[in-house]
Parts: sequence; C-alpha cells; structure tokens
Amino acid sequence: MDELIAEARKARENAVAPFSKFKVGAALRTAAGKIYRGCNVENATYGLTVCAERVALLSALAAGERKFTSIAVITQSPEPSTPCGPCRQLMWEYCGDIDVALANLGGKRVDHKLSALFPFPFNFTLEE
Ligand code: THU
Repeated sequence: MDELIAEARKARENAVAPFSKFKVGAALRTAAGKIYRGCNVENATYGLTVCAERVALLSALAAGERKFTSIAVITQSPEPSTPCGPCRQLMWEYCGDIDVALANLGGKRVDHKLSALFPFPFNFTLEE
C-alpha cells in the first residue's frame, strides 16, 4: 500500500483545483498490479468538478481494466479525507469491496474496506 500512496502523492501534483485549492491524488491498483492515477479537476461552473478517485477509476475503465484490488487517496488535510458519496457508489459498482487507504501529506494513514465506508450500497437488480 505504501507504493500506492506514493503514486497517489505524485498524482496529486497534477490536481487542477484553482477554486477550492484542495488538491487530491488517487491511485487505483488493478488485479494484475497495474496502477492508474487520478487527480481532481475543477472547472468554472464548480458543479462539473470531477474527483481524483473518479478520474483514476474512469481512466482505468477506459483503458479496458475491469478488476481492482485497492485504491489510495491523499489530501492535504489535518486528517486523511474520506471519498465523497458518488465516488463511493462508483467504486462499489466497478471495484467491489476493495481496500481503501486514506492518507494525508503529513503521513497519517487510515485503512478501510470499501464496504465499511459504504455499508448500504445501491445495487441494481430486478425482481423476476
Ligand atoms: N474531491 C476529491 O477529489 N475527492 C473526494 O473524495 C472529495 C472531494 C475534490 C473535489 C474538489 O475539487 C475538491 O476536492 C474540494 O471538494
């Protein structure tokens, strides 16, 4: 996980956060061990902002990846910051119950399973 956090730290350097100044980096590991990075990208409408976790996930999916084991997220905050609700939903749908490592720049780290962060997910199933 240390390597994944280091990758997230590098990803954070590319964050586009002129409005909030809150830069986030994420690194998502595939089952085969490949790492996809993401950073938050803000825009002038604010509402179209995309979180670092989603950038990493969507970039991995667009590259054809479908199986994931873990994600690291790093922020500059007194305590490691937890992913927003929409990111939790998307991670759950596409990654399942992966390991989530949350870190801050100062070296604090908290580990969770995604199921602990997102205990009652929306699952799309139709009754017969
Ligand atoms: N942000 C993320 O990148 N990931 C999260 O899980 C929560 C928030 C970003 C969005 C925005 O650019 C900034 O952090 C402040 O909300």
